[in-house]
Amino acid sequence: MQKKELNHLAIILDGNGRWAQERNMPRIKGHYEGGRRVKDIAIAASNLGIKRMTVYAFSTENWSRPDDEVNFIFKLPKIFLDKYLNDLMKHQIRVEYIGDISYIPEGAKKSINDSMIKTNENIGMTLCFALNYGSQDEIVKATKKIVQQVEDGSLNIEAINKEIFAANLMDNTPVDLLIRTSGEQRISNFLLWQIAYSEIYFTDVMWPDFDEKQLALAIEEYKRRDRRFGGLSNAK
Ligand code: IPE
Ligand code: IPE
Ligand code: MG
Repeated sequence: MQKKELNHLAIILDGNGRWAQERNMPRIKGHYEGGRRVKDIAIAASNLGIKRMTVYAFSTENWSRPDDEVNFIFKLPKIFLDKYLNDLMKHQIRVEYIGDISYIPEGAKKSINDSMIKTNENIGMTLCFALNYGSQDEIVKATKKIVQQVEDGSLNIEAINKEIFAANLMDNTPVDLLIRTSGEQRISNFLLWQIAYSEIYFTDVMWPDFDEKQLALAIEEYKRRDRRFGGLSNAK
């Protein structure tokens, strides 16, 4: 693979609440608008030939928000899919999820499962929603799976390496470019293993304002980066 290829784009879509509050609207309006952006950016990314896009929709830490906000966020999968599934189908986008969906409300779970089944045969980009996702939780779960395999004798402890560890994660596609909107410069427990060598792009733009032009700026910046992977510069 060429070092500059952009296979996996991951996005910490942040700033929905502030975007709404700045406009004297309830925070949930920001989440609603943010959903539309996910659709726009997914289609733009798929048109650019990106193979996988993972969006951080709800973290394991987001349960600490007020109930009203959490309840609305879990209504969004149905709202999003009712509105946009046809668009995703048209663009051959497959929908996937990472995170612990066993604990989320039934309605959201049903929409999620339906969307995975309906888009399963699509051959274009995969749009992966991280929902009730936390990277530390993912790493602990992977560790438990590995220990289980050692205990039942199917895996030798000496055979454990980074490939085997990665294969036990919820998804192990290395992230090429990580974008975080809203001016915050932190990772907030997202894809810690997978971003080991990703380029990171921070922008002050709030997620509901992040449009195709903003995506193009991020990708231009990505293309200017010198990805050395511990080696020496490719620049002649
Ligand atoms: C990101 O927007 C979406 C979720 C975390 C669900 P926020 O809701 O974090 O928006 P801000 O950061 O409060 O503005
Ligand atoms: C990260 O955003 C989680 C998601 C985008 C789903 P937060 O807004 O929850 O992160 P912090 O609290 O600012 O770190
Ligand atoms: Mg936030």
